[in-house]
Amino acid sequence: MAGEKCDILFRNATLIDGSGAPRRAADVAVRGERIAALGRLEGWSAEREVDASGRVLAPGFIDVHTHDDRLLLAEPDMTPKLSQGVTTVIGGNCGISLAPLVAERVPPPLDLLDAGGSYRYPRFADYLEELGARPAALNAALLVGHSTLRVATLDRLDRAATKSEIARMRAIAAESLDAGAIGLSTGLFYAPANAAPTEEVIELCAPLRARGALYVTHMRDEADHLLESLEETLRIGREAGVPAFISHHKAAGVANHGKTRQSLAAIEAAMRAQPVALDAYPYAASSTVLRWDMVARASKTLVTWSTPHPEFAGKALDEVARTMGCGPEQAAARLQPAGAVYFQMSEEDVRRVLAFAPTMIGSDGLPHDIHPHPRLWGTFPRVLGHYARDEGLFTLEQAVHKMTGLSARNFELEGRGLVAPGAYADLTLFDPVRVRDAATFEHPATPAEGIELVMVNGQIAWRDGRPSGARAGKVLRRQAGRRDRAS
Ligand code: ZN
Ligand code: CU
Repeated sequence: MAGEKCDILFRNATLIDGSGAPRRAADVAVRGERIAALGRLEGWSAEREVDASGRVLAPGFIDVHTHDDRLLLAEPDMTPKLSQGVTTVIGGNCGISLAPLVAERVPPPLDLLDAGGSYRYPRFADYLEELGARPAALNAALLVGHSTLRVATLDRLDRAATKSEIARMRAIAAESLDAGAIGLSTGLFYAPANAAPTEEVIELCAPLRARGALYVTHMRDEADHLLESLEETLRIGREAGVPAFISHHKAAGVANHGKTRQSLAAIEAAMRAQPVALDAYPYAASSTVLRWDMVARASKTLVTWSTPHPEFAGKALDEVARTMGCGPEQAAARLQPAGAVYFQMSEEDVRRVLAFAPTMIGSDGLPHDIHPHPRLWGTFPRVLGHYARDEGLFTLEQAVHKMTGLSARNFELEGRGLVAPGAYADLTLFDPVRVRDAATFEHPATPAEGIELVMVNGQIAWRDGRPSGARAGKVLRRQAGRRDRAS
């Protein structure tokens, strides 16, 4: 081994490799876009050496739940994510994908991604091609959204799709998967999809099975009917013969606090019979479009954006109502279209879900909000700093596993999520003593502390608190039939 050369060599790192295994001391050599070797690499030399003493070197984090479809193109530095150590994002969640749809105006919640005319991709392949031609600083894998398909296909959204509409949506879904989408997402909670019966989703999932693709869902109800919605999700997975992924698992509303005890037990039982996965973000407040039914369930609501009243972004809805001289329900109506943060979960449920071994970490950040939920900038360092180090909810190794190895395995991101010879050099170097989220509900767009260096496909993407300008991100297309071969 003596005398070998590489491009970058991390010396004396504390390696947490993403598998959940205990940390160990190691040097890590990167050559080209991959990890060449690790261990004690005494005879090795490199173009560039990085002294990693006292620092943790981990696989780059995988944000499994994002709405970054447009951000990847609009702000390819991806600073909110790179600053947290994220090297791969999964977009197209909650039934909302930027493609395939051509529309000047879109209904909520599709407007969360829209800057006016942003939905301009007739085919999923067109979007992926643009992303490939104008790469971002980090990798992206994309889901195709059920609500996007409905908006593209149905004349009105408050009804079930007809047989011929389902056939058309199924054909578009199949074409999107063949272009490289990794699965189908739904947002059955939201108006554009809420009228879709379970059977519509099962039929739409038909192209997934043969292609080894995934079903990922923002369930119909995360509040009073959480357990019934979970049952619906598991049924879709079983009947379509596909893995069912539950997004941002939570129990919403005071009346439902504590219900994650039952939901996690049900998920654990289902996992013995069918492929199931779940993700969560580390906050007791959620965020989406502004809806009165959600305000009514929340102990407090903050406005994140409003088209007619951008000046109220960051303000509490009660305060907005006082300023407007009306009640909160009327204020919510006047702000439309708008977004909000809802304080509606219990800390105990959040901890229970995060600590559940199969739970992956996903931010669910909304990157185009004027005053976003802090999860956009803080999710990963908050899990590492607040929940693992300060609160001892799990070990640092488990925390890293939930955002790397576990996620890559579930989403079948080959060569990602582990620090191992031959794997892609997606790496995050952080200070385990200093790492913490600095984003707050008052000042959400604040970069985290303690993330010192981030590498994507062998190139340094983030260092000294800023992006390097490298655009080494790849589009991670679904690899045909992998699931069949693996079983
Ligand atoms: Zn969602
Ligand atoms: Cu979401």
